[in-house]
Amino acid sequence: MSERPCQFFLTESRPGENIFRSPKPSGAGKECVSVFDFVNEQIVILDFGSQYTQVIARRVRECSVYSQIVRYDAPAGEIAALKPRGLILSGGPSSVYARNAPLPDKKIFALGVPVLGVCYGVQLLAQFLGGKVEKGQKREYGKGTLRVRDRFCPLFANLPKTFQVWNSHGDKLTRLPRGFRSAAVTENSEYAAIENRARKFFGLQFHPEVVHTPRGREIIANFVHGICRCGRNWTMRNYIEQAVGEIRAQVGGERVILGLSGGVDSSVAAALLHRAIGGQLTCIFVNNGLLRGREAGTVRKVFGRHFHVRLQYENAAKLFLKRLKGVTDPERKRKIIGQTFIEVFDAATKRAGKAKFLAQGTLYPDVIESVPIGGNPAALIKSHHNVGGLPKKMKLQLVEPLKRLFKDEVRQLGLELGLPKEIVFRQPFPGPGLAVRILGEVTPARLEILRNADAIVLQEMKHSGWYYKIWQSFAVLLPVRSVGVMGDERTYDYTIAIRAVESQDGMTADWVRLPYNLMEKVANRIINEVKGVNRCVFDITSKPPGTIEWE
Ligand code: XMP
Repeated sequence: MSERPCQFFLTESRPGENIFRSPKPSGAGKECVSVFDFVNEQIVILDFGSQYTQVIARRVRECSVYSQIVRYDAPAGEIAALKPRGLILSGGPSSVYARNAPLPDKKIFALGVPVLGVCYGVQLLAQFLGGKVEKGQKREYGKGTLRVRDRFCPLFANLPKTFQVWNSHGDKLTRLPRGFRSAAVTENSEYAAIENRARKFFGLQFHPEVVHTPRGREIIANFVHGICRCGRNWTMRNYIEQAVGEIRAQVGGERVILGLSGGVDSSVAAALLHRAIGGQLTCIFVNNGLLRGREAGTVRKVFGRHFHVRLQYENAAKLFLKRLKGVTDPERKRKIIGQTFIEVFDAATKRAGKAKFLAQGTLYPDVIESVPIGGNPAALIKSHHNVGGLPKKMKLQLVEPLKRLFKDEVRQLGLELGLPKEIVFRQPFPGPGLAVRILGEVTPARLEILRNADAIVLQEMKHSGWYYKIWQSFAVLLPVRSVGVMGDERTYDYTIAIRAVESQDGMTADWVRLPYNLMEKVANRIINEVKGVNRCVFDITSKPPGTIEWE
């Protein structure tokens, strides 16, 4: 069991985000190499520092095959203990001939399992087995056309003879190792795909995992099903049974506490734990007074009345608002909210009775250890996000039933467990809630205005179908007053900014080009229905340079 200090999340995890927006990750444990007994058909991915390693892992799982990422230098013995059906060597920013190049344990090539090298991975494979890699005359970057030379190469089964691929490499394979041959070429490379079919070693100079290689998923499927002979066992339906067993084994007869925020991760974790241990689970839901209109009601309805989860509802709205009175600085707001949450949560757990475990909705991307390889700016050990440290004296052990799952798998799991779409596909909502969407002081009157405006944005986005297509959409209250006319009267009221953004992970974002008639409807309704607002503006700032939230 992990002995890390207890942490809990306040809302869904967002890469790089923390309720305190701490610039420094605190460092998570090295958890990526763990034996996962039940899954007897898995692909192990050795991470050489590519920004796409996780994408490879997801593509494999989209084939209903479990995959896990291990560090590039994981000892062959440890990898063998995972009983992989195949290995994938990821890309990476280094050159295989560089002095500090990240190299794998060479015994991995003697494990007797199929290997697929991707980009840097194929260069490694070639170099280790006697081939040659040199600096290319020209960098091959961007889209290219692949021509399959060997139509019997199992990687390209059922694929056309030519198709688009995406490249990103400077080095070039100039001599193949013995026993290998070229299976496909591009304009710039004689060895865009190589194979040693007898040993089941394959390599791709391009990236099959990215969307710019439209047939890439099929190549990965050919590798995992056709070459590694994996079935399609990794499904969330199967996972429930296995996770339930694991949770029961870990928890025994002890009690578990979970901070339920109403976000996707904590909700799915709650539903899964409830399935596993029923009444041994207590969910604590803190109403900090900064929630959207129907948030608290939905959580109470779904978990309390529908699932019959033991739900402890803590209405601490007054306390939060009292502490936020007169505070205008965004960082101070966040700090106050974070600290107050910890206090309230701590007191609530005491009232909940003695528990040994604290459950968290940590996801797989939060626990993968990034590879600190020279030249890779993302060379960090990732920390858990959106967490506030609980007082160490609580000494609760962690249960993290989602820590092997990617977000899309968590959503799938939520649906399998019977959670409503409204929760499973909910847009992210920040831990500090509406406080970061009211610029300046947070007052009950401003909260009411924002809640009413936000409810209209939400309604219209859902009604038009846009809500589920984009990352986030919400209203922001600008406490500046401008002049307007309504009927015969002059008004002097607040402004609402409408924000709608598209994003993959919250790290970068683009504003969404919503249809004019939708924007018009939202603005009209807000101005007509929300007292205190006489102007709506639409935020057309992307991230960077803007942030998604306004504070
Ligand atoms: P920004 O505003 O930094 O937001 O571009 C990126 C994503 O993170 C969410 N966000 C937060 N989530 N606590 C959270 O739990 C926070 O303090 C916080 N600040 C921003 C934001 O909604 C967006 O999805």
